[in-house]
Amino acid sequence: MFTVMSEAKRKRVFSGIQPTGNIHIGNYLGAIRHWASSQVGFDNIFCIVDLHAITTSQDPRMLRTRIRQAATLLFAAGIDPRLSAVFVQSHVSAHAELAWILNCLIPMGWMQRMTQFKEKSQKQKERVLVGLFDYPALMAADILLYETDLVPVGEDQKQHLELTRDVAQRFNSTYGLTFKLPEPVIPRKGARIMGLDDPTKKMSKSGSRPGHAVYLLDSPEEIRSKIMGATTDSLREIHFDKGRPALHNLLVIYELFTGLRRAEIEARFKGKGYIDLKRDLAEVIIEGLRPVQQRYRELTMDAAYIDSLLVGGVSKVRPIAEKTLLIVKEKIGLR
Ligand code: TYM
Repeated sequence: MFTVMSEAKRKRVFSGIQPTGNIHIGNYLGAIRHWASSQVGFDNIFCIVDLHAITTSQDPRMLRTRIRQAATLLFAAGIDPRLSAVFVQSHVSAHAELAWILNCLIPMGWMQRMTQFKEKSQKQKERVLVGLFDYPALMAADILLYETDLVPVGEDQKQHLELTRDVAQRFNSTYGLTFKLPEPVIPRKGARIMGLDDPTKKMSKSGSRPGHAVYLLDSPEEIRSKIMGATTDSLREIHFDKGRPALHNLLVIYELFTGLRRAEIEARFKGKGYIDLKRDLAEVIIEGLRPVQQRYRELTMDAAYIDSLLVGGVSKVRPIAEKTLLIVKEKIGLR
């Protein structure tokens, strides 16, 4: 039987990030730093998903800048071009083509259940774009084109991964075994970092208030001011308690940047107050981001180098995607 599965070798990891807004510590703690720390022993592909970005309105000049910025940040955060292919989604047309084919297998009801769409479209009502509704089909195409085993993501992407598996299964049962079923890899801690201004909302690139998120490229002054201004409750004791979501969020960020155990952190702040925690946390984040920012500055001096890495990335992945698409077309009778 004609199948896209190949001999089991190193597991393939695929993940993506939208080049919209500023990349923040939620993206970093929930996804990027895991991509960077577990490259060895895997076959890694990381995608700058510019076609997903245009599901909301984008200024063309800004989008172009942000695509390169996102790629540069991934390399600055430790993605090693010798171990991982980084590429721009729209440079491989198979993504859009497979998304269309999957559209023709996905019932409306599956899409209507997507909570991220429901949240994002709430305000826009009838003006919401078809592309935003269809976002999960494109995401499924991204993943399925590459015989992906593992998809490391934050918790907000879990439902999209379930849809990806469902559509892969539907294709396989209709046309015969074609797609591998990918597994989500969601970190135990930091999978959902909350907004600093509102601990009931996920930290997001589109958060409109200036104190909502710490961005990876924020200056030390900006980080200090955002952390000092973070929402807290009126209780005193500093300890991990999910019932106190604002404090819990700050402590989780502290935990992830320091690598300390929870008991050690609680001991450190015993008898102390929010001001002490916030002061310390700001410095911990500044130090944690310093090497990423330093490397980012070095990399931006050489835009041609980043372009060459993206060309290298796309030339590794395009043949894989084209092979899968060809098989899919044959299976469904388009060739
Ligand atoms: P995006 O660009 O919103 O986010 C990139 C990654 O960061 C994670 N993330 C978070 N983790 C913890 N706390 C947060 N507050 C937080 N906010 C974001 C996301 O879960 C994600 O892992 N749809 C995807 C991009 C995508 C993709 C794919 C991912 C397109 N195709 C294929 C995996 C596989 C997205 O919008 O990510």
